[in-house]
Amino acid sequence: MPADTVAMTRGADHALELFDLSGRVAVVTGGTRGLGLAMAKGFAQAGAEVVVVSRKGDACEEVAAALRAEGAKAAACACHVGHWEQLDALVDEVYRDFGRVDVLVNNAGVSPIYDKLTDVTEELFDKVIAVNLKGPFRLAALVGERMAAADGGSIINVSSTGAVRPTRDIVPYAAAKAGVNAMTIGLAHALGPGVRVNAIMPGPFLTTISRAWDMELFAERARTFPMRRAGQAGEIVGAALYLASDASTYTTGTILSVDGGAQWSMAGTGDGAPAQRQT
Ligand SMILES: NC(=O)c1ccc[n+]([C@@H]2O[C@H](COP(=O)([O-])OP(=O)(O)OC[C@H]3O[C@@H](n4cnc5c(N)ncnc54)[C@H](OP(=O)(O)O)[C@@H]3O)[C@@H](O)[C@H]2O)c1
Repeated sequence: MPADTVAMTRGADHALELFDLSGRVAVVTGGTRGLGLAMAKGFAQAGAEVVVVSRKGDACEEVAAALRAEGAKAAACACHVGHWEQLDALVDEVYRDFGRVDVLVNNAGVSPIYDKLTDVTEELFDKVIAVNLKGPFRLAALVGERMAAADGGSIINVSSTGAVRPTRDIVPYAAAKAGVNAMTIGLAHALGPGVRVNAIMPGPFLTTISRAWDMELFAERARTFPMRRAGQAGEIVGAALYLASDASTYTTGTILSVDGGAQWSMAGTGDGAPAQRQT
């Protein structure tokens, strides 16, 4: 083989190795369904040991068992990410069992439906903030400081295009996700240079969350999106692998949109469109 071809082949091998997560421990909250499940599978396929977290221990164990059946190392941890003390216990358990965390994905999130603003109770408002913003902050603080004191790591927060295209029907959620974007940049400063902190900002994806959408209305809207459709959960994996791995060693404080370009033609500019819930 000519020398330049050998060099190119080596280059290609090296490029793929950038995404290798062998020997790394990844914690994925909300790892039992939707985007979190897709990321958990992707990390396992890239060689990581994966800790699957959600409120339901059985569902976490089911996913962990499926990953183990594929040859990966995986464990399950039940935790409500909106409860500070449960996060402390989660981190203690993971460090006791694995000794390290290299990748943390703050993915668990909720986007409850309401008809009018006064239907948003204090309890609902607090829950949206707790699950989408407070929990990710606490987990990043607990894990990030340990990462910084050890070998470093990568924290990925899952935001939403709702943060930059807030609509009338997702006001508390949009505010929480805008907080996630801001928090990502602050945490990148606080935990750098050893720990990189980035956010993935998804647009509309077909997951459990999308079951509440008015699909006729969504299809009409989607016709104006550059990609003309919603995303499939597996389409989040490339961005997650990039941010989790050595492929992104000079990327921190970034808010990476994975939205098929939808934010550029979405509601959220006060255009008087009927209420709908997209993200
Ligand atoms: N799908 C979209 O269109 C879209 C768009 C923009 C942003 N996002 C964001 O992407 C992330 C994932 O969304 P998704 O669509 O994949 O959602 P999903 O299919 O509804 O899955 C949500 C996951 O989070 C877990 N979860 C929910 N509340 C939790 C809590 N309090 N503590 C721990 N785990 C909890 C769920 O498991 P349990 O029920 O067992 O707890 C489940 O594993 C969320 O942050 C969401 O805001 C989604």
